[in-house]
Order: sequence, then C-alpha cells, then structure tokens
Amino acid sequence: MATQVKTDTSEQKTIHYLRGTPILGNLPEYSRDRLTLLKRIAAAGDVYGMHFGPFPAVMFNKPEHIHSILVEHAYDFDKGDAIHNIFRPVVGDGIFTSEGDFHRRQRKLMAPSFQPRHIASYATIMGDYSEQIQQTWQDGAIVDIDQQMTNLTMSIIGKALFDADVFAETDELGKAMSVLFAHVAQRLSMLLPPPYSWPLPGNIRTRKAMQILRNSVQRFIDERRNSTTERNDFLSILLQARDEDGNPMSDDQLMAECLTLFGAGHETTATALTWTWYLLCQHPEIYQKVLQEVDTVLQGRTPTYDDLTKLPYCLQVFKETLRLYPPAYATSRRALRDVQIDGYHVSKNQVALIAPYTLHRRPEYFPDPEKFDPERFTPAREKQLPRNAFVPFGAGPRICIGLYFSMMEGHLLLATLAQRAKFSLVPGQTITPDPLHHLTLRPAGGIRVAVTRR
Ligand code: HEM
Repeated sequence: MATQVKTDTSEQKTIHYLRGTPILGNLPEYSRDRLTLLKRIAAAGDVYGMHFGPFPAVMFNKPEHIHSILVEHAYDFDKGDAIHNIFRPVVGDGIFTSEGDFHRRQRKLMAPSFQPRHIASYATIMGDYSEQIQQTWQDGAIVDIDQQMTNLTMSIIGKALFDADVFAETDELGKAMSVLFAHVAQRLSMLLPPPYSWPLPGNIRTRKAMQILRNSVQRFIDERRNSTTERNDFLSILLQARDEDGNPMSDDQLMAECLTLFGAGHETTATALTWTWYLLCQHPEIYQKVLQEVDTVLQGRTPTYDDLTKLPYCLQVFKETLRLYPPAYATSRRALRDVQIDGYHVSKNQVALIAPYTLHRRPEYFPDPEKFDPERFTPAREKQLPRNAFVPFGAGPRICIGLYFSMMEGHLLLATLAQRAKFSLVPGQTITPDPLHHLTLRPAGGIRVAVTRR
C-alpha cells in the first residue's frame, strides 16, 4: 500500500499516513465510502493516519489502545472541535458534548438512574410498547423495519424519560430527528462547515426540525412542572437536581439534557435492532434458533425483566449484531496535551480515531470476522475476549450512559417481537449501511420486510 511517512524522528514509533489527494487528503474517500476507508486504514496497520484536508487524524485499532485512550488517558483528551462546534449549536451543551468538571457533575447526577436496578423498572414499558406496535402489523404486510424500530424505541424513550406517550407522534418526531442527524452527519464530513446561523437551506431545514423537537420536549417539561404527581422517570431526576449552591438546572441546560437523551436514547438501539432483523432474515438457521428459544421460554407471554436470563441466545444475537454493525461505528478524541499511546507520540491538538467497526473485525479475536455467528458471544467465549476488544458503547468515563438500558431494550424487544411475527426481506433491495447521511450506521433507504404473523 502506498504511504507517506511523517518525518518526526523524536517519536519512539513512527506514524504512517495513507496517501491522499494534495489538498483534501483522504476527505473525498471519507465522504464517499467511509467504511471502506476505515477498513483500509485498519488493514494498513494497528496505528495508521489519514488526513482531513490538512488535518491529520490517527486511527488506533487495538483493544489496548482503546483502553489507553478512553480509560487511562481519558482526561488527556476531549471530544474536539468537530463534536463541540457541530453538536452544541444544535442541542446545546449537554452530557454528550460537555467536558471537564461540568461533564463530571452532569454525569454524576444522571448516572444513578441508568444503573441496572433502576432501569429494570422500564422493562414493562418496553414489553408493552412492543406488543402495541406488533399489533399494527397485518399478516402479509410490508413494513420498513428501520422505521418501525425507530418509532418503537422513540416511544419507549419518550415514556422512560418524560412519562409521555409519544407513540402517535413518532412519525413527525422521527422525521425531525432524521433531518437533525443528517445535518450533523453531513457537517461532520465537511472540512469547514458553514456556520449554523447562516440562512442556508440545510440550516433552515434543521432549525425547523429542531423547533419541532424543542416544542415537544418543552411540552413534556411544562406538563411535568404543572403536575403534582410523583414520578419515577428521568425528567423528575433532572428537575429535582440541585448544584452545591442549591440551584436547579437552567432551562437551557434542562433542554440540552432532554434533547441529548431523547436523541441518543432511541436512534442507536433502533439501528442495532434493524440490523438484527436483517441478519436474522439472512441466516434462517439462526433465526429458527431464536424462535425456538422465545417459544419455549415464553409460551406466548410478554417477556419480563426476569425472563431475560432465560433468553441467552437472543442476547448473543443482539451482541453479535452490535459487533458487525456498531451503531456508533467510530468516535474521535483530541489530545489536550502531548500523550504517548503504545509508544506513539500524539501531539497536543492531534485527533485520535477509534472505530469499533474495524476493531470488531480483528480476526485474532473474531475469526472469520464478516461471518454472523452469535456463538462468539456464549458467556464462556465472551469471557476470553481481551478487555476492550468489543466496545459498541465506548469505554472509560464517557462510556455510554444508556448501556444497560439499551442492552435490556435490544434483548427484550427482540424476544417480544420474534414471538409475534416473522420477517422476510422483500427481494430486490440493495441494503447497505449509510454513515454519510446518518449519524449512526443506519441502512440507506430503510429495509423492507414482509410480515408473517406467528
Ligand atoms: C445500542 C444502543 C447504543 C449504542 C451503540 C450507544 C453508543 C454510545 C457510545 C459509543 C458512546 C460514547 C461515545 C464517545 O465516547 O465518543 C455513547 C455515549 C452516550 N450515550 Fe449511548 N449508545 C446506545 C444507547 C443509548 C441510550 C439508550 C441512551 C440513553 C437513554 C444513550 C445515551 C448516551 C449518552 C448521554 C452518552 C454520552 C455519555 C457521556 O459522554 O458521558 N445511549 N453511546
């Protein structure tokens, strides 16, 4: 492979860079076929660089690198300008975009309500909404499973966060969310994105979508403030939170956290479930094992939290999907100071890339990596994986706060729906992940499936 070598001799190990075009570097390929580019970088070496125009970024692709960057050196990095400048003007400064002490405070405040003992209480909501949506599917109907999973997970997060029933509004809110995420994804691919304040068609579209979302969230907040009923949802915790001086969160802060959780809390899990159905349709023998497990264990009942340990194969299937199609397929960090990672020198302001999409395809941990094989995640085999070889939720102090929530959700929704309906792919579709137009690894144009009721 053709490479350029950076001539910085002070480093213990030299970072090599993929060759790119003179001015834009690897940006054209990044904007055209991002996943192939990530695979190309990973194939070139465990630590390898690329250029966004003149800006270098180095991808670290070994489990120990992930540990070093996201855990050991977590506070030597931040999320960088790309995340700050693109997300903050749209959603505000919430837990996802904030840094330092402010982030630590917000995280501490929110974390207890995302612990397993608390989120277990959401299992009933998940089961109920799954039953509700599957009843809308007629035998022989053709549905876009991506859209259905988005509506379902959005209804669930609406209920869990705001104790609100958004089921009927999910089409409108889902569209607004898609516009917003597409805008963010597009800007993340630009070298110099034009300011959000400029009256460009994309900005205007996004502002309209944001208004729809903000209005809904504001309505939930207002309803809650006017209600005297005590509740156990997430908004209650945000509203009751007080800083050291006894002050509540400002309205802007509250809005930022609500938008962050509403957005982050449904799109990712929906994407993972969409690919789960796709992979099951492609692998009839694995699909059959799932059906057998749910039929034997549940015998027609809606699964509860306590059933989950009796449905291990469903969990293995969900994890294997997260391996092959990690919704958050790549993330980045900017060095706040010079750092050594595995003997490589990362200078202050340099960007480190981490791509679960390529890391999860390392053949030494996942032999025949493109094969969909849920047996990789039997408890015994999963234990043999090195720490941070499987990181769909990230790692360290910025690890996904919704990890337990979404694992339970994926597991439970898969079991509930598999019991009621069987899907088959409508022939003639070209199904590919489309990271260019979506923030997560969603399929381009959805996935149409035919429903057979069970
Ligand atoms: C399959 C589902 C999900 C996946 C794959 C996923 C993935 C991730 C990843 C990789 C990160 C870390 C990003 C980074 O370090 O740069 C993250 C952060 C985050 N996720 Fe998730 N997520 C999922 C579901 C959820 C859910 C259900 C919620 C909320 C209910 C949520 C809320 C958040 C928040 C608030 C952060 C920022 C945490 C912080 O910076 O302290 N996520 N997620």
